[in-house]
Amino acid sequence: MLESLSENVTAIRNVNSLESYWMPFTNNRAFKAQPRVIAKGKGVEVWDQDGRRMLDGSSGLFCSPAGHCRSEIAQAVYKQLQENSYASSFGTSHPISFLFAERLTRLLPEGIDYAFFTNSGSESVDTAMKIALAYHRAKGDGHRLRFVSRERAYHGVNMGGTSLSGMVQNRETFALTLPNISTIRHTMCKENSFERGQPNEGAHLADDLERLCTTYGGETIAAVFIEPVAGSTGVLVPPKGYLQRIRQICDKYGILLILDEVITGFGRLGDPFASHTFDVKPDIMTMAKALTNGCVPMGAVGVHKNIYQAVVNAAPENKIEFPHGYTYSAHPAACAAGLATLDIYEKENLFERAKSLTPYFLDAVWSLKEHPKVKDLRGYGLLAGVEIHNNGGQVGEKGTNLQKNLFHNGMHVKITADVAILSPQFIIEKNQIDEMIDIFRKTLDSDA
Ligand SMILES: Cc1ncc(COP(=O)(O)O)c(C=O)c1O
Repeated sequence: MLESLSENVTAIRNVNSLESYWMPFTNNRAFKAQPRVIAKGKGVEVWDQDGRRMLDGSSGLFCSPAGHCRSEIAQAVYKQLQENSYASSFGTSHPISFLFAERLTRLLPEGIDYAFFTNSGSESVDTAMKIALAYHRAKGDGHRLRFVSRERAYHGVNMGGTSLSGMVQNRETFALTLPNISTIRHTMCKENSFERGQPNEGAHLADDLERLCTTYGGETIAAVFIEPVAGSTGVLVPPKGYLQRIRQICDKYGILLILDEVITGFGRLGDPFASHTFDVKPDIMTMAKALTNGCVPMGAVGVHKNIYQAVVNAAPENKIEFPHGYTYSAHPAACAAGLATLDIYEKENLFERAKSLTPYFLDAVWSLKEHPKVKDLRGYGLLAGVEIHNNGGQVGEKGTNLQKNLFHNGMHVKITADVAILSPQFIIEKNQIDEMIDIFRKTLDSDA
């Protein structure tokens, strides 16, 4: 393994300066003073530039449930790029775009029969906003111009997603965001501390949406965006009955329910989508990340047939019905990666594997419960948040430290503020889960 690392390591050593790369969502000065570079990956393991092995505790960024560097996906992309490396999706297309849309929609909840392709979760969110506006306009409801989101929501970084964001740090730098966004409360309650799975308390928080409907008029609201489990802000699992209540209020006022399944999609909670797990039907859903096992950037928006038909049928025959799309929508390499990924999920029963590993994984995470540095634990499926005390320090300071120390102790983990977000690959073995938690505990013991 080390030998095959050498080219990557040589590449990083040949770099005179790390300066030219303005890194995203990174403290650039801190990183460049003390770089952490992942040079290679295989399965659930990654290696840094010095050849040090690490476990990937977060599937990259929730991207690669089937494991890193799957040769089936690499070969499918290679073959596709030799045959047809690019075709415009505006007015033309290429064969596997249709094939992939059909395969994907078969996995989606009932009625979500159409897929619109994007290149990321953020693009999927902004696309979903536009679809909602186009739908209401097509139905003669063009006055529905308000969107509802939640505190502690993360819906990506494009202008729509930033405006929907319930994370103040992601908005405060950018003074100009969209108007007509209302935010309802998040669902984290003190009573639910250390509760595993869906908490009992908090379904009533859905009534915030009803209050907005009485304040602004339900008929002015286009759509509500909900992450079924808020992932990036620290794994907030929906209280029992909460999502059903949101669905009821949406139905009462004709508001579209948009489930953002960028993290929860593709088996993370043990079913194809969180919408299956929690038995709540969306009108629109957003996806990305595990759609291609993280191999090629791609996102998708799943759309209910009634919405597609309303938009398409309302347009004059000689007009483009929905003037929106990306140069790389349904890129052939991404579709090839997506098809190969769905093959792996299916052949290896990976969603079921995620479900069957869940009790073992959550037991292992909950073994940290008594650790004095642990403030709270939350989790569902192969997704768990370990929140640590910040001891009155600046929010995120302890978390950043923990991430650095975990990296040096042999584990990559995504951290938001002071919450470590564990989301292992579905191919992980039980002894590797033990190893992960062992590293985590020792890191907490020593220096977090
Ligand atoms: C729920 C949710 N929506 C949207 C996004 C944005 O996706 P991307 O980073 O691919 O633009 C993310 C990213 O983590 C996410 O978790």
